[in-house]
Amino acid sequence: MNSHKIAVMGYGVVGSGVVEVFDKTRKSIEAKLGKTAEIKYILDIVEHKGTGFDEKFINDFKIIECDPEVTVVAEVIGGVNPAFDFTKRCLEAGKSVVTSNKELVATKGAELLEIAEQNNVKYLFEASVGGGIPIIRPLRYCLVGNNITQIAGIVNGTTNFILTKMFREQMSFEDALSLAQKLGYAESNPSADVDGHDACRKICIMSSIASGKHVYPEHVYTNGISTITSADVEVADKIGYTIKLIAYYKALSNGKCEALVSPMLVNPRSRLSNISDVFNGVVVKGDAVGEASFYGPGAGKLPTASAVVSDLVECMRMEGVCEPVLWQDTKENCVVDIKDTCFPFYIRAKKSESVLNRLTSLFGAPVLSENIANQVIFITNEIKQADFENAIKVLEQSGEEIHYTLRVLN
Ligand code: HSE
Repeated sequence: MNSHKIAVMGYGVVGSGVVEVFDKTRKSIEAKLGKTAEIKYILDIVEHKGTGFDEKFINDFKIIECDPEVTVVAEVIGGVNPAFDFTKRCLEAGKSVVTSNKELVATKGAELLEIAEQNNVKYLFEASVGGGIPIIRPLRYCLVGNNITQIAGIVNGTTNFILTKMFREQMSFEDALSLAQKLGYAESNPSADVDGHDACRKICIMSSIASGKHVYPEHVYTNGISTITSADVEVADKIGYTIKLIAYYKALSNGKCEALVSPMLVNPRSRLSNISDVFNGVVVKGDAVGEASFYGPGAGKLPTASAVVSDLVECMRMEGVCEPVLWQDTKENCVVDIKDTCFPFYIRAKKSESVLNRLTSLFGAPVLSENIANQVIFITNEIKQADFENAIKVLEQSGEEIHYTLRVLN
């Protein structure tokens, strides 16, 4: 009986989690595979002592690349370099690669999937979106009988944690962020979380699966949560809504799509409104299934490792089975301009004698309108962003003071 030999590249938070989870579940994995499986190498430039796996550590990538016994590699280094080079070389050497590296999948996914197909191996990335939540495999296989029409997700645990603390404990943004970092949720550079780049990479991956075309981060409008103030938190709370960082995809009938990341005022009827703390949630709409929701821990060492290990096992289980590429690089931008997207909008304006009449004459009857602490809160029906911006300009030119606006997710 041959044994599967695995290499783990990177021994940071996720990498050490992968080794731990694999070690704990090894017996049951072997029983499911009907073969033995072992981690042969752990690649890291930093020396690690007393891990219980000390004899497996190496610091030269070529050892993995040149060892024909290693057929499956977990890339949990993160970032594009050297992860791209290492991944490409592993695939070209006939080794399947699994990863939690959303940046690499979002920027180089089409290319790496094509190299994997050419070499009859796999490139899998369940852990790249939603941490421990199964979402990639459901989109790829379980929902294959659907045209995916819409995806709306809370896919960044750190910002969800921060917003939850701001809502429930009136914590300041800075205090909540440093707590998230202490708990190991945040990326080392908080801008990736707070400014929405991490969520952008994740919606790119899901949009690429749904559309079959590579959706690149530079085409996706991305706005983070750093401009959300306690005034908006208070108002949202008073009207029974919440504010979440939403990653959004919508298929359009012309073959293009809307894809964006933005803080949104979330209707209490939405399944995403109750997803709190570091948890993630994704609501997928398909033309056959209707609406399906996925919920669970979106970040952290062991949940992410759980998804990486599931991909390792999938590679070993399906060794030699070739799959066509999941999405193509069509060399054209399939995402429509943000000005052509349509949402309902929330407006928080300074109260004046004229503001409500002006809002109503520009936007029609509101979905919701309230007076709160010398402010008028107004929620519009769905409107194209370009038209919304023009109307806001008209309001400001007529002397009304607009404090803040947000897209609304129903
Ligand atoms: N920083 C990411 C998050 C980690 O907060 O969701 C998981 O991708």
